[in-house]
Amino acid sequence: MATVRLDQKPRALVRAIPDSYKSALAKFFGSGPQDLDLARMQHQQYREALESCGVSVTMLDADHKHPDCLFVEDQAVIVDGHVLLPVPGHPSRVAEQPPIANFLVSQMGGAQICRMSGDARMDGGDILRLGDLFFVGRSTRTNDLGIEELRDLLSHLGHELRVIDIPDKALHLTSIASTPTDEIILAPEGYLPKDAFGELPENSRVIWMPEEETYGCNTIGLPNNKVLVAKGYPTVLQTLKDLNLETIILDFSEIRAADGSLTCCSLFF
Ligand code: GLY
Repeated sequence: MATVRLDQKPRALVRAIPDSYKSALAKFFGSGPQDLDLARMQHQQYREALESCGVSVTMLDADHKHPDCLFVEDQAVIVDGHVLLPVPGHPSRVAEQPPIANFLVSQMGGAQICRMSGDARMDGGDILRLGDLFFVGRSTRTNDLGIEELRDLLSHLGHELRVIDIPDKALHLTSIASTPTDEIILAPEGYLPKDAFGELPENSRVIWMPEEETYGCNTIGLPNNKVLVAKGYPTVLQTLKDLNLETIILDFSEIRAADGSLTCCSLFF
């Protein structure tokens, strides 16, 4: 998940792939999953990769009535031990949230839990954190009311929030950008203006990738200079290696088929 710093990733929540996964929403990177067994194998390799990096992984049961339920990133925003439960931006995804919320409440004793309400909408996949600076995508899933609720939480915690308009050809901000370290943003050419992220803190920068490697821009940075990266994106891979990061490559083809990226499948807490 994209709302915690590298040093805030000891545990991750993931959710099993439902039998209904072939009906998952798919409009951007993919046209729908075809192979449920392959998707489950890729998801297992993802869990194993996180565990090999020292992350303690808990997997919730699938909700077979909700084909997108594996994309847990969208269902909660965890910032410095506080939890914002958004109203997801697609109506078919709203009922995925209760078991995730219950799990987080049970595990994060003392956490402040805020629930979005009314017409505010947000998918957690629209939020990106660079150190102590936050970005939110204004997208088809995240509206201005949702952004204001996030801003309230972040202001309370002393963090700045910057809004980025997501072009129609992308689902979420994290579909097109990630922070493999607390100082680097990877983003593709052709989606955002070069000044979209604004002036960054000293030592931080955006590294622009070729447009054809957009999907590869979603990475998961982990402690000890490790980073998960999707298979098939050579410029992204070489860029991460040049940053002296240890890359762990995952074939995510059947997750991509439902517009899911690496960060979509986990919530770090
Ligand atoms: N398939 C992921 C989503 O559209 O939310």
